[in-house]
Amino acid sequence: MERTLVLIKPDGVRRNIIGDVISRIERKGLSIVAMDMRTLSEETARTHYEEHASRPFYTSLVEFITGGPLVAMVVEGERAVEAIRSLAGATDPVSAAPGTIRGDYALQVQENIVHGSDSTYSAEREIKLFFPELG
Ligand code: CMP
Repeated sequence: MERTLVLIKPDGVRRNIIGDVISRIERKGLSIVAMDMRTLSEETARTHYEEHASRPFYTSLVEFITGGPLVAMVVEGERAVEAIRSLAGATDPVSAAPGTIRGDYALQVQENIVHGSDSTYSAEREIKLFFPELG
């Protein structure tokens, strides 16, 4: 079984669509094995997005992701990394297919509702960062 980290970002929480996002994940056959609501510290946000540190949108991304509570969860299932990325849709919500989370709910590339780890390697790193007790 594979695990991945999913975040319902502060825009998703503000828009009251936590239930829909969770329901899409469960409907797909994936299981949520850990979950909580928290506001990220700047340090955690910077570490989480460290691969984007040199990008022009990095400061704004860190401000956005720390700007309100988010829902963090560990999702488990067969090919969970790929399955979540497929449910989420393309990073740019305007290009994301209708029927995906971003395709249905978002218009801006930064405020794109959800995050899913982009590889099993990233998933392991991100799960350790958010849920160290799971190893
Ligand atoms: P996420 O899947 O969490 O991974 C990196 C995040 O950076 C991405 O979703 C977006 O929220 C954000 N992002 C990616 N590209 C851009 C961009 N061009 N401008 C602003 N934010 C971006």
